[in-house]
Amino acid sequence: MINRYVFGTPFDTEAILHKPAATEALFPLYISLDGPVFSLSLSQNDIVFGLGEAVRGMNKRGHTYISWNTDEFDHNEEKKSLYGAHNFFLVTAPGKPATGYFVDFGGKVTFDLGDTKLDTITVTVDSPDYELYIINGTDPADVALQFRTLIGRSYLPPKWAFGVGQSRWGYGSQDDMMRVTQKYRENHIPLDMVYLDIDYMDQFEDFTISSERFSDFKQMNTNLKNQHVRVIPIIDAAVKQSDGYYFYDEGKKNNYFCKNANGDDFVAGVWPGDCCFPDFLNPEARTWFGNAYSYLVDQGIDGFWNDMNEPSLFYSKEHLEDVKKEVSELLKGDLSIYNNFRLKDLIFGLSSNEDDYRKFFHTVNGKKICHHDVHNLYGYNMTRAAAEAITKNYPERKLFFSRSSFVGMHRHSGIWMGDNKSRWQHILLNLQMLASLNMVGFLYTGADTGGFGADATEDLLLRWYALSIFTPLLRNHSSLGTREQEPYQFMDSLESLRGILGLRYRLLPYLYSEFMKAALTGTMYARPIGFDYPDDKDALNTQDQLFIGESIMIAPVYEQNAIGRHVYLPEAMKLVRFKGCTVVEESELAAGHNWIYVALDEVVFFIKKGHVLPLAKPAEYVDGVDWDTLTLLHYEGTSYTLFNDDGLEQNPDLQSNLKVLQVPAS
Ligand code: GLC
Repeated sequence: MINRYVFGTPFDTEAILHKPAATEALFPLYISLDGPVFSLSLSQNDIVFGLGEAVRGMNKRGHTYISWNTDEFDHNEEKKSLYGAHNFFLVTAPGKPATGYFVDFGGKVTFDLGDTKLDTITVTVDSPDYELYIINGTDPADVALQFRTLIGRSYLPPKWAFGVGQSRWGYGSQDDMMRVTQKYRENHIPLDMVYLDIDYMDQFEDFTISSERFSDFKQMNTNLKNQHVRVIPIIDAAVKQSDGYYFYDEGKKNNYFCKNANGDDFVAGVWPGDCCFPDFLNPEARTWFGNAYSYLVDQGIDGFWNDMNEPSLFYSKEHLEDVKKEVSELLKGDLSIYNNFRLKDLIFGLSSNEDDYRKFFHTVNGKKICHHDVHNLYGYNMTRAAAEAITKNYPERKLFFSRSSFVGMHRHSGIWMGDNKSRWQHILLNLQMLASLNMVGFLYTGADTGGFGADATEDLLLRWYALSIFTPLLRNHSSLGTREQEPYQFMDSLESLRGILGLRYRLLPYLYSEFMKAALTGTMYARPIGFDYPDDKDALNTQDQLFIGESIMIAPVYEQNAIGRHVYLPEAMKLVRFKGCTVVEESELAAGHNWIYVALDEVVFFIKKGHVLPLAKPAEYVDGVDWDTLTLLHYEGTSYTLFNDDGLEQNPDLQSNLKVLQVPAS
């Protein structure tokens, strides 16, 4: 059951697709409500799931999280905000029903989930105008399903986007694209996508291509597509302020940029220096920005990643002037302790400064709206702009994923998990966010495999891939200045890396089929194991294993030098051990707490009772996967219902694309 409470006159975030009528029901007595603040108590066994992209465990209890989309490059456990705002959480306990809460508000929301007081949740909305949805369900999976029904169907990427991707900040030329592809192909490491970061552009200007670094962009795309590889360029939210740059001139002339209090275009710094910010809340500006992607699509591009769209501000022009003045005053005096701190604060406080978000405005239906009040909707509407225009202009599904997001954007695109690091804890965080993001509809997601910041090691990359082969978005990406981490940089482990990535393609029919079924029915592709066993205390409290689709449970190793790990099985399951992409062990593991050994070149996972796992023959790209000759690994199961379509159709039908694969009688 869903109740929708409306307070004041909220701005429509467009998160909810199917809005029920506002409820006549009284506000539940167990919640204390004081304007924009509401609180509820937690009992000892309560578990809090949700909040999508956020640090810490799957059980969110014991920390304060703030929905405030932020360009945050250090995902450590004290952080409160990352790039997305996913204001949904649910409370449950073993054997108890579950209740979900969604705060529909586009500005700042603070979730104190048992941080100040262990037994109290306090949610503070930054305005008296907001909506609150309360969802009562039998168990967590039921609440998540009801929520997904409200927010609408998740984005469907093309089938080829389930292949392996290689990226690095620094690739910026035709030669880079060709070299990376060649290295993959000559080493027989599977590959479907290579990514272009900001250096492909001319002076970091959106919708331009450097003619110096690309002699024939279109021909390059054709050549690569002939090798079954697609090029995926980045698009940044901010537009360089530069007279004579066609796209800036268009935006300026048509008043498509956000304005400051004086009515001039608001200016702040991002990669190109001074930039203006498209007003993505204005439908006309959205159409303009979205149509611009055609410039690249018409040259053979089938996918994009949208970045810096929190929006990230390195400085605002106004604030920079103030800081310069204060710094020059400070430097005249002595730099003793407090002056020294002040100096640092001034410099560090330049970027993504909250005050700057109060200094610019959107125009919505002729009304001026302060950005601060709708901050979390910016990235959503940038990506929506791209997806809406391109979906309209071209018949086939395209790849979109964004850094910043809000619930609702899941209908248009996926997300990647931002600037993580080559840290072991980030493998675990990757797994945990996968589950929370699925609850809010972001099914097409994954993290920068190998880590974006810091230096990856061979063992880290092997272990990380052993998880990432199950994430719909599978991309190795790293930052400028870090150790190069393409699989072929680690020749001693080449065979193991090739094997693990090869397994992705053996699993592809299953992973794609499970993804599509989940997206089309509103269920979770990746879920905490307790969602399938809500009465089981140990299962509900397991935070480092996942079910992927209906048949398999994964339990990757995420600690350095670990030779194996603990695994909890809610019931007996079939353990399947792969060395590279070959099955080397199938055995039954008893229900309960187990220890398993997993060597660096192995992937171990589990098949659930009564279930079947189809496996394809190895392939080096998605188009090469043979869907007709599948081997069925099974555990007391008799059939598997496979979804398959052409991978490009925008609105595939579920029923007509299903096929039952029967396990042959032995
Ligand atoms: C941001 C992105 C990162 C990208 C970099 C340069 O930090 O999150 O993925 O490589 O910008 O464009």
